[in-house]
Amino acid sequence: MAELAASFCLLSCVVVLCLSSVSAVTDDGQHKQVYVVYMGSLPSRLEYTPMSHHMSILQEVTGESSIEGRLVRSYKRKMEGVVSVFPSKKLQIHWTASWNFMGLKEGNNTKRNLAVESDTIIGVIDTGIWPESESFSDKGFGPPPKKWKGVCSGGKNFTCNNKLIGARDYTSEGARDNHGHGTHTASTAAGNAVANTSFFGIGNGTVRGGVPASRIAAYKVCTEDGCTSDAILSAFDDAIADGVDLISVSLGGSPDRYEEDTLSIGAFHAMTKGILTVHSAGNSGPDPAMIGSVAPWILTVAASTTNRAFITKIVLKNGSTLVGKSVNSFDMKGKNYPLVYGDYAEKKKEILVSVYSSSSDIAVATITRDRQGFAAVCPRPLSALSMMTLTLLPLTLTPQSNKQSSLFLILFLDSPSLSHPQGTLLKTEAIFNQKAPTVGSFSSRGPNTIAVDLLKPDITAPGIEILAAYSPDAEPSRDDTRHVKYSVLSGTSMSCPHAAGVAAYIKTFHPEWSPSMIQSAIMTTAWPMNASETGYASTEFAYGAGHVDPIAALNPGLVYELVKADHIAFLCGLNYTSETLKLISGEAVTCSGTVLPRNLNYPSMSAKIPASNSSFTVNFKRTVTNLGTPNSTYKSKIVLNHGSKLKVKVTPSVLSMKSMNEKQSFTVTVSGSDLDSELPSSANLIWSDGTHNVRSPIVVYTYEL
Ligand SMILES: *[C@@H]1O[C@H](CO)[C@@H](O)[C@H](O)[C@H]1NC(C)=O
Ligand SMILES: *[C@@H]1O[C@H](CO)[C@@H](O)[C@H](O)[C@H]1NC(C)=O
Ligand SMILES: *[C@@H]1O[C@H](CO)[C@@H](O)[C@H](O)[C@H]1NC(C)=O
Ligand SMILES: *[C@@H]1O[C@H](CO)[C@@H](O)[C@H](O)[C@H]1NC(C)=O
Ligand SMILES: *[C@@H]1O[C@H](CO)[C@@H](O)[C@H](O)[C@H]1NC(C)=O
Ligand SMILES: *[C@@H]1O[C@H](CO)[C@@H](O)[C@H](O)[C@H]1NC(C)=O
Ligand SMILES: *[C@@H]1O[C@H](CO)[C@@H](O)[C@H](O)[C@H]1NC(C)=O
Ligand SMILES: *[C@@H]1O[C@H](CO)[C@@H](O)[C@H](O)[C@H]1NC(C)=O
Ligand SMILES: *[C@@H]1O[C@H](CO)[C@@H](O)[C@H](O)[C@H]1NC(C)=O
Repeated sequence: MAELAASFCLLSCVVVLCLSSVSAVTDDGQHKQVYVVYMGSLPSRLEYTPMSHHMSILQEVTGESSIEGRLVRSYKRKMEGVVSVFPSKKLQIHWTASWNFMGLKEGNNTKRNLAVESDTIIGVIDTGIWPESESFSDKGFGPPPKKWKGVCSGGKNFTCNNKLIGARDYTSEGARDNHGHGTHTASTAAGNAVANTSFFGIGNGTVRGGVPASRIAAYKVCTEDGCTSDAILSAFDDAIADGVDLISVSLGGSPDRYEEDTLSIGAFHAMTKGILTVHSAGNSGPDPAMIGSVAPWILTVAASTTNRAFITKIVLKNGSTLVGKSVNSFDMKGKNYPLVYGDYAEKKKEILVSVYSSSSDIAVATITRDRQGFAAVCPRPLSALSMMTLTLLPLTLTPQSNKQSSLFLILFLDSPSLSHPQGTLLKTEAIFNQKAPTVGSFSSRGPNTIAVDLLKPDITAPGIEILAAYSPDAEPSRDDTRHVKYSVLSGTSMSCPHAAGVAAYIKTFHPEWSPSMIQSAIMTTAWPMNASETGYASTEFAYGAGHVDPIAALNPGLVYELVKADHIAFLCGLNYTSETLKLISGEAVTCSGTVLPRNLNYPSMSAKIPASNSSFTVNFKRTVTNLGTPNSTYKSKIVLNHGSKLKVKVTPSVLSMKSMNEKQSFTVTVSGSDLDSELPSSANLIWSDGTHNVRSPIVVYTYEL
């Protein structure tokens, strides 16, 4: 009933967005972005301070934190509960695509070690690849690196080149990508820079991977029907033997014990051979504890926004405009179509609205495509999309106002005065999203159910509305018969190759670094993120250590190193038997002594506290390796996150390093009482020598499944 009550409130403070191009000149003669807010008369039972309410609406719709002095006038309007916000002139679009957003600028502005980059091989385990894509052209590439031992066995009519140096197929379909997913992920990790690309004009610009000079080897393990576990394990073992430097794998499922998950096993094998596996967190958010990537020898990646966002508007026939999230490339030329409720399969030549309720109660309108070609459809809710159905083009009404807008749409459709509601859909446009990065609601959240004291995901990277190469054989979205070379997709499948590209970029400067050193460098230099709202959905369980920062990760100062023996000790601490340990490591192992899983030398610290404990004390033991300057003194600093009442002590609190690769150990003691059962408590440990800030999240929680 609480939800219903909230809905009623929202119904009476509906927000309608209408962007127009009214010009405004400020006192100093300069053009300035100003806004006009039209406000309907508000229900008297609600308490409002209209001006501040307008301000907050503006903040929501513009994504700007400071809009002081920008609101020129608020009008009262007759219409009940309708607000229109008009930016004063056409929005300036300052967005940059994902690599620019992360600081890896195009061309000469990014430091690159091209000779090593060209010898770096990225293995992509996915749905295959489209070898003819310009993203994989070998123009300017020399022969494969000498270490390459792989093959090109992609089946009939499949040719490799000096960029796409290898392909293997485990599906008997051939390694050609008929789905689009594998082409998209491979080009995001290591595709060439291709200028002037877009999805029917949407997102136009240069598409490129993180390490465009690197080579790609494609391992096809998935078809439309899914990916088999034996194919995944074979692909890992072949990729390792072929000589790849890094593995990117954007597939997965629900959390499984390590010995039952061939992806965890394959990644363990890779780790022992010095190869880092970068893996997507999964698309089962925002509910807690759904994360399917749970092993400490894997870099697990959540998906977040960049400062370029796509929006799509529905203009109702009566003039009201709703803004939503979608990718609509069709120009309906302003023609109105009936708006109907219903099921996709039955409807034609109509804009279809389906509404669903998830735990977060967000309504989604999906728009069907007229058989002659208009908007496309994906009638499933975003969070329920499986890895293999990421070509989504539903219209979800914008995050900040989605409840209002969706409910408005429902109200519109239910309006007794309108027997035949109509509307039209505009083509998607790009806007500047100042709030970025924020984690997508679909991105799978912790806590980790397999190892409760290991924080997952590790980091977040761009994974929302990513333009990258696509398979011309695949439908851009369901029942869309057009063929495209580049398409826009969202998912942790898209963030994973971004992080893989970053890991490869680091490896080109530090070829001798082990997987754990790269993982640590990425995690401890990540941009700090903040809970954007309350609830598990927006904490470290969504973004781990924060957002990847490729440039900072080149020079982390200190790293938390792990070797195979540490991972074995961790598994022993989880009470794995010799039998299951053998399944994972492929060799006979006996556990010696007892190691608490939370003492694994991981770059983040997490502990689950029994809910029955009113007070608690936990210790984390860690050892850092000096990679900064030989002679350096690191001082520890604890930053408590908002609302956290933890007591955190670091012993010793100062580390004096005398040489490179020197290791020093310390203990972090965290105590507190009366933990919130709904929310984790967190802090950050930062080791700083004045130049490097080595940050680790500390998270304690009591969540019970
Ligand atoms: C980038 O570097 C190349 C080679 O050093 C040089 O020829 C080119 O002029 C540079 N471009 C810019 C924009 O600086
Ligand atoms: C090989 O595949 C490409 C892409 O699908 C196609 O255009 C071409 O006709 C095929 N060639 C043969 C000989 O089948
Ligand atoms: C991009 O495409 C447009 C139109 O096709 C063309 O005029 C322009 O030269 C292209 N730009 C580049 C950098 O290739
Ligand atoms: C994208 O297309 C628009 C409209 O055609 C054009 O003004 C803009 O310069 C293009 N941007 C890029 C990066 O090519
Ligand atoms: C459009 O119709 C809806 C539903 O009847 C109504 O709430 C809204 O105020 C109307 N908008 C305009 C601009 O008339
Ligand atoms: C995090 O959010 C809190 C309020 O939710 C705010 O007080 C704090 O300044 C934010 N911190 C950062 C780094 O944005
Ligand atoms: C492992 O077994 C010990 C002894 O039975 C127990 O105390 C501990 O809680 C177990 N650990 C896990 C992670 O299950
Ligand atoms: C929980 O309480 C028990 C009993 O007081 C205590 O032995 C245990 O150490 C506490 N656990 C933690 C994590 O503090
Ligand atoms: C290291 O730093 C200490 C204190 O700043 C200084 O006394 C010492 O000479 C330095 N050693 C080297 C090898 O630079």
